[in-house]
Amino acid sequence: MIEIAPSILSADFSRLGEAVKMIENSGSDMLHIDVMDGRFVPNITIGPVVIKSLRQQSKIPFDVHLMIVEPEKYIEAFADAGADIITVQAETCPHLDRVIQQIKATGAKAGVALNPSTSEYVLDYVLDQLDMVLVMSVNPGFGGQKFIPSMLTKIAMIKDEIRVRGLKTKIQVDGGINMENIGDIALAGADIFVAGSAVFQAENPSQAVRILKERAVSGANHMEE
Ligand code: DX5
Ligand code: ZN
Repeated sequence: MIEIAPSILSADFSRLGEAVKMIENSGSDMLHIDVMDGRFVPNITIGPVVIKSLRQQSKIPFDVHLMIVEPEKYIEAFADAGADIITVQAETCPHLDRVIQQIKATGAKAGVALNPSTSEYVLDYVLDQLDMVLVMSVNPGFGGQKFIPSMLTKIAMIKDEIRVRGLKTKIQVDGGINMENIGDIALAGADIFVAGSAVFQAENPSQAVRILKERAVSGANHMEE
């Protein structure tokens, strides 16, 4: 099933509550929340305290993307703040298997993100435990960057592995997704599409979400043919 996850990184941070409500009413499937610590990535955004207050505003699933070092120190805090999915970067977790267990113990769904240069093979011994794999299609830290085309191969390789193992793991893709390329990304095998600037810089964000979903569905249908 195709799902759209607008990223609030591209929203007006002085009016985050309104942005969350708009996304909830736009037919989006989840809200992608980019947490950055200024150490793993050269940018700093928000933490559990902001997520906790946004949680009061909306029922939409919170898809929390932790671009932070030592995420194991904060898993419970983000779960308590209302995260429904918690995604850690493979590059920040020497004990990845343990962190995945830690996330699942909170009741949240577990995701692992791979930077563009990180091979999918790092997931070989944990893929079976994952609800979601996040393929970064830009170098993390900022919205509005260009999609890295070679990630289409990584998406297809991971999709293949999920199929071979008969898993229900979803593939989320994040970075540089727009109306023009979302069909190809769906064709490669992606299930969940993060879109920041394509939604928040659109004239009509709700309409942008609808068009993105339509184009992803038609791209995925070509894959079925
Ligand atoms: C980048 C973030 C992405 C970003 C996507 O580090 O993880 O979620 O907000 O923004 P766009 O869709 O504008 O590339
Ligand atoms: Zn993200």
